[in-house]
Amino acid sequence: MKNLLDFRGSALIQTLQLIADPISFLDRYHQISEDTFTVPVLGINSPPVVFFSSPEAISEILAIPSEKFDFARATHVFRPLMGDSSIVLQEGQSHQRLRQLLLPPFHGERMRHYGETIQEITTKVTQDWQEKKVISLPQYLPEITLEIILQIVFGFSLGERYQQIKNLLTELLEDVTKPLFSSLFFFPPLQQDLGAWSPWGNFLRRREEIDRLIYAEIADRRQDFQLDRPDRKDILTLLLSAKDETGASMDDTELRDQLVSLLLLGYETTAGSLAWTFYLIHCHPLVLAKLQSELSGINQQNPEIITQLPYLNAVLQEALRLHPIALIGTPRMAKEQIKIIEQTLEPGVIVIPCIYLAHQRQATYSQPREFQPERFLNQKYSPYEYLPFGGGARGCIGSAFAMYEMKLIIANILTRFHLKLVDSKPVKPVRRGITIVPSGKLEMSAATTTVTNNP
Ligand code: HEM
Repeated sequence: MKNLLDFRGSALIQTLQLIADPISFLDRYHQISEDTFTVPVLGINSPPVVFFSSPEAISEILAIPSEKFDFARATHVFRPLMGDSSIVLQEGQSHQRLRQLLLPPFHGERMRHYGETIQEITTKVTQDWQEKKVISLPQYLPEITLEIILQIVFGFSLGERYQQIKNLLTELLEDVTKPLFSSLFFFPPLQQDLGAWSPWGNFLRRREEIDRLIYAEIADRRQDFQLDRPDRKDILTLLLSAKDETGASMDDTELRDQLVSLLLLGYETTAGSLAWTFYLIHCHPLVLAKLQSELSGINQQNPEIITQLPYLNAVLQEALRLHPIALIGTPRMAKEQIKIIEQTLEPGVIVIPCIYLAHQRQATYSQPREFQPERFLNQKYSPYEYLPFGGGARGCIGSAFAMYEMKLIIANILTRFHLKLVDSKPVKPVRRGITIVPSGKLEMSAATTTVTNNP
């Protein structure tokens, strides 16, 4: 195959390196072959995995009709958590149908309804920073993003059920990021219910408890829906009325599976991206000063003004470029022979659009390792050069929502607190579940500011 490097190292070593230190792994391959390389992965009959990072290749991959790929091979690990009908596990028409049902609540006008709740939650979760003086960001950011999903997506109101599900989910999601527990999902033979004390048995019982609470919430929402309550603005209520082309809507199991998928894909990703952004801003005093000056001149209560700020947008885009929380787009296995930038790939080959390396291309970004928000003010990048949310038929459903949410959280925190990194040692990117987050506690000293609120 032209231009394709065939690395013949041990598949076991390659796979372990990819899991343990994916950034160094990708950087190493990228140095040898900038645009594409093939990696052997673990498993006797495992197909080769081909990474692509040039805009030409990524645009071709995203244009190939989804029927030519099998996506389920890479996503099956999510099945026990997300459920059989999750959008992530669907292919072809049933995948398209779910995207049509799920996308509208996450876009356009709808967003306006969510701004106030996002600001209230951020203020509430961070209210003890004043007394604490030193705070650890990874402790607080996931709490903010989890509360946002529970209230805006699920429509939970504060109360006993809300607290119960929040505690259960926090524990479960924390466990999922631990290597020993998460390995259960990769090795189906380990998925044995040997009673409540066995790891899998314990997982099943906790899942059952969480599902009981979610189904109770769905039942309440259906009742509200019948009462036609216009005050209900949550995404679950919108999904109850969403109809596909045949006029059918989702049943309770389908709804449960989508809600859990949105939760699992939308909470850690957003918290991790925020952690990177806060870290980068506070390592670059000039960026911080410019951002503070932009924020000081506006009405901080108005979400529509905040989310349109050009420098805030550029800072966030640059943070997502330098540290994309997902290093790769959804892996896809060729079902038939396909061609990508003149390379013929045989059926069975796994194709990966590599987000991280696309963002590191010297040809696209000058000084790609530097944090330079200005590049997003001066230039427009194509969706094949800049893709923190992936793209095409599998692109992130929550991208507009996540951008909106993150801008409001950053603006809220920066206008209320002066933060300063406690430790000047650079942090490293480390794996946490499916995301790559900054290492360590990311401690910051927090002092309150005097808020100037221009009308
Ligand atoms: C900064 C935050 C986020 C980042 C960086 C991110 C990134 C991604 C990426 C890279 C993909 C795979 C795209 C592809 O294969 O082309 C994805 C898929 C997805 N994301 Fe996000 N995401 C974020 C937040 C969210 C939020 C808030 C939600 C919803 C509440 C969400 C829901 C989804 C769903 C449902 C998919 C699967 C789409 C499908 O299979 O059709 N994400 N996300």
